[in-house]
This record gives sequence, structure tokens and C-alpha cells, in this order.
Amino acid sequence: MQYNNLWDYRHSAKEILTKEAWDYLEGGAGDETTVQNNRKTFNQYSFRPRIPSKAVDKVNTDVNILGVRRELPILLGPVSPLQLFHSGGERAQVQAAMDTDTIAICSGHSLAKIDEMGSWNGKKWFQLYSTVDAAHNYEIIDRVCLAGYEALVVTVDAFHKAIRDRDLKNNFKLPAGIGFGNYPVKSYRTDGSIELLPLGWDDLTKILEYSAIPVIIKGVLNPADVKLASELGFAGVVISNHGGRQLDKVATTLDILLEAGDVSRNGFDIYIDGGFMRGVDILMALALGANAVLLGRAYVYGLVVAGDAGVSKVVSILMNELSNAMKQIGVSAISELSPMLLSKNNLNPSI
Ligand SMILES: Cc1cc2nc3c(=O)[nH]c(=O)nc-3n(C[C@H](O)[C@H](O)[C@H](O)COP(=O)(O)O)c2cc1C
Repeated sequence: MQYNNLWDYRHSAKEILTKEAWDYLEGGAGDETTVQNNRKTFNQYSFRPRIPSKAVDKVNTDVNILGVRRELPILLGPVSPLQLFHSGGERAQVQAAMDTDTIAICSGHSLAKIDEMGSWNGKKWFQLYSTVDAAHNYEIIDRVCLAGYEALVVTVDAFHKAIRDRDLKNNFKLPAGIGFGNYPVKSYRTDGSIELLPLGWDDLTKILEYSAIPVIIKGVLNPADVKLASELGFAGVVISNHGGRQLDKVATTLDILLEAGDVSRNGFDIYIDGGFMRGVDILMALALGANAVLLGRAYVYGLVVAGDAGVSKVVSILMNELSNAMKQIGVSAISELSPMLLSKNNLNPSI
């Protein structure tokens, strides 16, 4: 099979996985309207390229991530349990991040221990799901800082168990041996999932004060919270609706970025995820002010097909598409992008 784009990987992944695992990966909350809208939103935006002052032949995709210049505006987002999709899933995510020179955001619900993942070569951030025991959260943060992760990503949109019809219908349960390596037994619900402690701004600011590494909030869906996070001293936010998996009928992330993107221009990082499958999707997000894009399901398709090599191929396809799109619209560097190069529903949104 020839893999020209991410849809090819998706097609094969569906054939390889069991129905239960596929539904767990693809499914979302409620009517899955948000899952679908995450993709549809990219169709509402279009490019309106300018003729460049100098012809564009070569492009530079460098972006700023936590103050450091990096060549790829792509991060491998937290997905758990990766073992459901490939036996060496967690290791493969980190390996692919190293091979493609990007960053792996390791899920807090990983099977591998924090310290073990920390010892794997490659750049890593750690995603925290709060546990029922507040003190335990701080123990986890200590271990994360000691293990050399470069940032802490606190997820705030999944404190309560989601209602996903596909999983209910399949009576989905994690297969034996696939669990959570970093959570105390008392966090387990009777169905094997993990109980989380809901966090508010007061808890988040305590975590920020405590953490020795930069803290990013994942799951922000209101421009007011993007602004507040930047004012409170967080390093950044991930505008995310958890891939439509937690609550249906929430906003699509590109639309929130459209309203909030200018905050990122003051040295505060804005990341985004939700349905990114093409280089042009990434280009749109960068034009609206994102520092980089997190991949979710997209890299899992590559993982299912070919482990870490599949994930790396997914990243390289996207980078090739992104560079090509930059040339096509006459932009040689990410810093030249602006909302002026886009229209929404054929109206320019930035003015
Ligand atoms: C199967 C699956 C598991 C996920 N697990 C986590 C997780 O452990 N922690 C987290 O913060 N987000 C998790 N997410 C959400 C992703 O990080 C990301 O926000 C989302 O997948 C983006 O949407 P996309 O998959 O359409 O690109 C998960 C998503 C999927 C599909």
C-alpha cells in the first residue's frame, strides 16, 4: 500500500484495528458533532494569497516553542493508552519525536512509569491528569521535574467521565495488561477507568507556583481563559476540545484561535489541536497565531500501521505538505503569516 497522505494511513489503521479499538480511537461524545465539526471547520477557512515582494523558492518552517526556535510546528500530543494501538506505543511516540526532531507529550495515563519514559532519548513534555489525591499530584510533578521533562501540560477538559456511545455499545474495556502506570489504586473506578480531581484556577495557580518547569494548560476553549492564563504566568495553552471526545457541541478550536490568536504574539505560547490531517490545516492555525499544532489521532494512524516509523512518516508527510503550501501562497517564513492571508466563509475575519 502506498501512503501518500494521512487519509491513507487512516484507511489502513481501520483495517488493522479491532472494531472496539477503532471506535475508541475515532469515537467522540454524544452525537459526535464536535468530532465532525473539527474537520469541517477547515473547509470554512480559505487562503487569499498575496504576490510576495520577493519570489519564494525556499521556505523556513521555524517556530518558537517555549522560547526556543524549532524547525517543526508539530508536537505529538498525549494519547492513552497507546498500547491499545501498537504494542510498543509509548516508546514509539518518543522515538518518532526524536527521529523527526519534535516533542512528545507523554500522556499522564501512560502504562510506562514517569521515570522510565523520562529516560528515553528524545524531547518530552508530561501531561498531567490530576488524581483524586491532591498530594499525589505534587508527587507526580516532583517525579516529572526530576525525570527531565521540559514542560508540564495540565489537562483541564476531562475531569468527568465522558459519555461515548460507541464505547457503551461495544461495552469497551481496556484489555488486560493495559492500565495506568502512575496512579494509586484508589483512583480506579470499578470499570477500570481513573477518577480525577476537578481543578479550578486556584488549583492551577498552585501547580504553577509549585512546578519547576513551565506549565501549559490543555483544554482551553474560551478566549478569556487564554488571556487569563497568559496574565497569570502560564507558559501557554493548548486550545483543544479533546478531539470532541469529552463533550459534544463545544466550539471548534480554529474558531477560538481566531478570537484568541493575538495573545500569542506577546511571548505566550498558543498550541492547538483537533482534526489536523493536512499541511494546509497546520498553515491555517499558524496564520491565526498558533505557535504549533498537536497531532492526536493523526499520528496514531501511522503508529498502528508501522510503529515509530509510521509516526515519523506521518510527520514528514505533513511537513512536506506544509512547506509546499507555504511556497504556493508565497510565504517563506512562518513570521510572515497573518490572519490577513485567510478568509472565513469568504469574508476576511481579521478586520
Ligand atoms: C484515543 C485518544 C486518547 C487520548 N488520550 C489523551 C490523554 O491521555 N491525555 C490528554 O490530555 N488528551 C488525550 N486525548 C486528546 C488528544 O491529546 C487531543 O486533544 C485530541 O486527540 C486532538 O484531536 P484529534 O485526535 O482529532 O487530532 C486523547 C485522544 C484520543 C483520540
